[in-house]
Amino acid sequence: MHILALDTSCDDTSASVLKDGSAILSNIVSNQNEIHAKYSGIVPELASRKHIEMIIPVVQEALDTAKLTLKDIDVVAVTYAPGLIGSLLVSVCFAKSIAYALQKPLVAVNHLAGHIYSVFLEHHDIEFPYLCLVASGGHTSLYLVRDFYSYQELGRTRDDAVGEAYDKVAKMLGLSYPGGPIIDKLASQGNKDAFDFPRGYVHNSFDFSFSGIKNAVRLKIAELKELSLSTKQDIGASFQNAVTDVLVRKVHKAVIHTGIKSIAVAGGVAANSNLRAKMQELASDKGYKLYLPSLKFCTDNAAMIAFVGYHLAKAQKYSDLTLNASSTVVS
Ligand code: KG4
Ligand code: ZN
Repeated sequence: MHILALDTSCDDTSASVLKDGSAILSNIVSNQNEIHAKYSGIVPELASRKHIEMIIPVVQEALDTAKLTLKDIDVVAVTYAPGLIGSLLVSVCFAKSIAYALQKPLVAVNHLAGHIYSVFLEHHDIEFPYLCLVASGGHTSLYLVRDFYSYQELGRTRDDAVGEAYDKVAKMLGLSYPGGPIIDKLASQGNKDAFDFPRGYVHNSFDFSFSGIKNAVRLKIAELKELSLSTKQDIGASFQNAVTDVLVRKVHKAVIHTGIKSIAVAGGVAANSNLRAKMQELASDKGYKLYLPSLKFCTDNAAMIAFVGYHLAKAQKYSDLTLNASSTVVS
């Protein structure tokens, strides 16, 4: 079965062709970093306009790379929620048009489910249940994953997503967008103990909070006035150390609470070198199984949407052409 999947939930235009649920024949991602960098954050209207421009070339490239044509596609999968509504609408309308023109089934995929199951793209041996931390630019949630399309949210951020906090701290430091990878690099040269930023643990819950640390960084920058490169490196390292401490501690708490010793970390922030290192340390210290997607499957990509689409199609959970995009999660 050939699945063509599309994702335009945020600022990446992506299309992928997946064969029989495991062979990734193509996974094309066109990012918009250059457009949003000058605003140090995503401008939704510019994002949707660029998706309109890119959707046809990206889908064509995905088909060409897979050495297929639209006629070879059996199912069309598309991210319908959550995300930026204008962006989501581009691929939802496009996917519906292809499904209608080809008279092929359509499946609607939740973007967060894409991240939750993205670990299967490279680790075919994962066993259920597992815990999954999804840390991205729009979401930070911890899930108990029981089966395909069966998962329960244990906790979520009460304010900013951790990736959003990275992007905003980068902006405060006068750095470009997306801020996560830039701070990751900057932090490697800094002293993680230079500043003691607050860790928002949100006790007695699996929820997260990152607005406090973001504000603490803002106040520290205002207090310091002049920022040398080494001070920026120290701020980046101390901020990163604090947020990764929180993420790792929450995951550890969930393992103890649920007794589930298999952990996956997904989403753009799962690309962070410090988070990966700390999670690996936790897993090897305690004997937990850890699944980390490689960097290209951490950030937004349509291959993860194709994978979930495959399982929905196998279960015959099709959508009709009344499918609409939604900015919030409809589970
Ligand atoms: O999953 P993703 O591509 O898009 C959403 O669904 O939001 O995540 C993008 C987020 C951005 O906030 C970006 O700054 C962050 O992931 N990110 C990172 C790293 N690479 C991407 N954050 C920290 N360290 C990284 N290496
Ligand atoms: Zn995402």
